[in-house]
Amino acid sequence: MPALLSRPCPHTAATEALGRALAEALRARGVPALLLTLRGDLGAGKTTLARAVLRGLGVTGRIKSPSYALVERYRVADRLQFNENLEKQVYHIDLYRFSSEDDWDDAGLRDVLDGRSLCLVEWPERAPALLRRADLDIELVPSGEGRIVQLRSGSAEGTALLDWLATHPA
Ligand SMILES: Nc1ncnc2c1ncn2[C@@H]1O[C@H](COP(=O)(O)OP(=O)(O)OP(=O)(O)O)[C@@H](O)[C@H]1O
Ligand SMILES: [Mg+2]
Repeated sequence: MPALLSRPCPHTAATEALGRALAEALRARGVPALLLTLRGDLGAGKTTLARAVLRGLGVTGRIKSPSYALVERYRVADRLQFNENLEKQVYHIDLYRFSSEDDWDDAGLRDVLDGRSLCLVEWPERAPALLRRADLDIELVPSGEGRIVQLRSGSAEGTALLDWLATHPA
């Protein structure tokens, strides 16, 4: 049972393939309401990866970077099997401009992160309490012209996703 998985992504297409694989793993698990955190410097590829996950979950139309709006909400394909009692929606969040956890309620984040929806969060370092709760923390580290993507599980469900990825090479 891997708690840590490292995937070389030498170019953008590899990051996108990893995002699609992650979406498939999520679908195989019934799209649980997990917290996925995405870390890495400006331009590391966090939005690229999140976008590929959202596409893999059947989101159509434009997927904007949430850098300005902080939170973007997407409906996922109706045909997807979902765990019971969960909302058929996915949140894509970017906390880069988030200065303090005191802003939490003002930003409406308490409702978003209520454990009923899948959440993809860029710049989780801005909210350390949130980072500690991640089911899967994904870090994009520069490597030459590309990236190495390190995925760490923080819960049994996160580990199940890593198991799925480890047995289904992108
Ligand atoms: N594995 C990779 N190798 C090389 N380039 C990549 C790779 N993955 C993504 N990129 C490129 O890096 C850029 C990443 O931009 P992106 O907006 O995804 O970064 P970000 O981490 O979300 O930045 P920000 O912190 O500003 O939100 C894009 O131009 C993308 O094509
Ligand atoms: Mg981004």
